[in-house]
Amino acid sequence: MGVAAVEHDQQWINILFTDGSTGRFLASWLRDNVESGRHRDRGQRTFDINRLPEIVIADVTHDADRVTVSFMPEGFDATFDETWLRRYGSNVAASGGVIPRPTLWGAELQDSLAFADYPSLTSDPTRLSTWLVGLRDLGFALLENVPTVPGSITRVIDLFGYVRETNYGQIFDVREQPDPANLAFTKLGIGMHTDNPYRHPVPGLQILHCLVNESNGGDTQLCDGFAVAEMIRGDHPDAFELLTSCPVHFRFVDAGSADLQSRVPLIELDTRGEVVGARYNSRSIQAFDMAPALLADFYRAYRILGRALHDPRAVIEFRLEPGQLVVFDNQRVLHGRSAYEGGQRHLQGSYADKDSLHSRIRILEAAP
Ligand code: OGA
Ligand code: ZN
Repeated sequence: MGVAAVEHDQQWINILFTDGSTGRFLASWLRDNVESGRHRDRGQRTFDINRLPEIVIADVTHDADRVTVSFMPEGFDATFDETWLRRYGSNVAASGGVIPRPTLWGAELQDSLAFADYPSLTSDPTRLSTWLVGLRDLGFALLENVPTVPGSITRVIDLFGYVRETNYGQIFDVREQPDPANLAFTKLGIGMHTDNPYRHPVPGLQILHCLVNESNGGDTQLCDGFAVAEMIRGDHPDAFELLTSCPVHFRFVDAGSADLQSRVPLIELDTRGEVVGARYNSRSIQAFDMAPALLADFYRAYRILGRALHDPRAVIEFRLEPGQLVVFDNQRVLHGRSAYEGGQRHLQGSYADKDSLHSRIRILEAAP
């Protein structure tokens, strides 16, 4: 494989490769991506193209393996490798994001739920990688044999990132309290929700670690918000349009110490129309403030979403015993809890960001 022929004007270079494929390259783009313009190990660019004069191509030469370009007015020559040119010559825009598309799921996953063994993950990078990839692709992962020592949740977070501290602290305790400020601090059930939709950004990962569970009930429920969003996109396109375009207001107030607010659609899309975020929390959502003409349709759409998130066909359910832990993507997977009665129940919770999870997976996958 190699370079067969090259032609150019002041702005563009057209390359014909020996396999018959072609590539078209802009002068500014080539100058922006010269190899010497990046740090050898870190890959960080060491200059800013916008601080250079307008770039034109003065001359181009080539052999089978490389193309050399003279840029004016700098009088600067750079050489580009044939394999590198061929990679970018094919349609870059056709490639996707930096994270694989999620694996959508529903209640059928119930039969294959498995808790990984925490001590094994800490000593075996292959098992850790498998577990983290599951967390990334399914949006949740289960773990057991985590010490029932308060605070050990942070050791688990060390496996994939860093604690995201909030006004609730590094770790928060979920147990019944005498004067509960939150439904979580009662024995009542909690409907499906995402945590902290009033933050920007919303915590990407939530971790719940069971220290004590002597109660009846209190089972954890999860639902794939992206799968539900795709169902609504297919079955109720008008509702999908409203849920992805009408911002709603979320707020959390703690007198004198916190007033957190966001205003965002319940289902978030990226520029390609892919679902990239789900928010739902009946406790912190505020009065809808869209145009009155939209309200009846919006409530209809909101009800479709609320029902779908609680539909048994979409929900998985499991009990967390002491030493067991669940991590989930709080921008995708909704969680809830059934009511409980009887003895003590104590969970510790914490948050982390997803970028470190993705980074850790790449590092583990690249290791020899
Ligand atoms: C929470 C929560 C669920 C539970 O604290 O955010 O949803 O199982 N708790 O108690
Ligand atoms: Zn919650």
